[in-house]
Amino acid sequence: MKRPIAYFAGTGRMVPSTVFTNFDFAKVGIETTDEWIVERTGIKQRHIAKTESATDLAAGASIKAMERAGVQPGELDIIVLGTASPDRLLPSAAVDLQAALGAGRAAAFDVGAACSGFIYSATVAESMIAMGNADTALVVGVEKLSAITDWTDRSTCVLFGDGAGAAVLKRSKHHKGIISTFLRSDGTLGDLLCRPSGGAARPFSQDVLDDRSQYIKMNGREVFKNAVRSMSEAATRALDSAKLTGADIDLMIPHQANIRIIEATAKHANIPMDKVYVNVDRFGNTSAASIPIALDEAIENGVVGEGANVLLVAFGAGFTWGSMVIRL
Ligand code: ACO
Repeated sequence: MKRPIAYFAGTGRMVPSTVFTNFDFAKVGIETTDEWIVERTGIKQRHIAKTESATDLAAGASIKAMERAGVQPGELDIIVLGTASPDRLLPSAAVDLQAALGAGRAAAFDVGAACSGFIYSATVAESMIAMGNADTALVVGVEKLSAITDWTDRSTCVLFGDGAGAAVLKRSKHHKGIISTFLRSDGTLGDLLCRPSGGAARPFSQDVLDDRSQYIKMNGREVFKNAVRSMSEAATRALDSAKLTGADIDLMIPHQANIRIIEATAKHANIPMDKVYVNVDRFGNTSAASIPIALDEAIENGVVGEGANVLLVAFGAGFTWGSMVIRL
């Protein structure tokens, strides 16, 4: 097991105040049922940003993480932010967050890895700390997926939610921190979950608006199969490189997309469900925000504390997947 280079000094989260339950879909003309959604996904409700921007959510989560870490905005060397739903396409969401926080010394940039965005971003931050390019990093996962979801497509709009999670990573002086990481992607499968239009290949036009291709399109079955396979691989890889087994893990925090994907991943990693953090029922799939929201809740609620071994596992559009073992 490697000596940790960076540790999680503080975490925070923010979700929008509006709760949208499975029963609320009827009010917006979507033909679905609570039973269908719960049985297929485990989701009962999600938070939807009516007034909050993605930057507001990211800033709220970041301020809490910095308070808990005892870090001032001016001390941040880097801000690494994972998102698939930034407030605007240029400049990055990270620089908007930097401005909101007043983190004047930081280099701020986005990482595009969809639902794996937090693990990718934390790994980049850890690497920059290892190379001596930073001592204190703010790592954020934020999504306002409600803005890029087709609210006429019942196969996707029931899945997603909005929110943000953040962590301050600092150079490790002790034996706590990140003890293994694993990242992988397969761009040949990008079309299975994508936003086809609105980018430079097919900029916004009346045609785009007419075919609603600015929104998320997904082949749910294929995504499901790949998610189970890739998250299982990721869990095993991070455990192997930390020289740990499922029995050594106090808590697994998988990306919260779907309870059936979570259960399959836990089974593969030999981790019983009572050691798996689940909040997909309350937040839906918040993509890059799901793992840091869950981590912050687990720490705040005392589910895990100092010295705990935590396995983070993610999968998302790209496809991208990744994992990380941390000692708190
Ligand atoms: N309510 C009621 N019926 C629905 C709904 C809905 N919200 N959505 C689809 N259906 C219907 C379909 O129209 C279809 O009807 P038909 O048989 O008459 O044509 C039927 O349900 C079955 O549709 P499928 O798409 O085959 O349903 P499936 O059992 O595959 O479940 C689901 C769909 C839940 C999306 C599943 O494939 C899944 O969870 N995939 C993973 C997707 C995911 O998590 N993506 C998130 C992004 S990636 C990530 O974060 C890991």
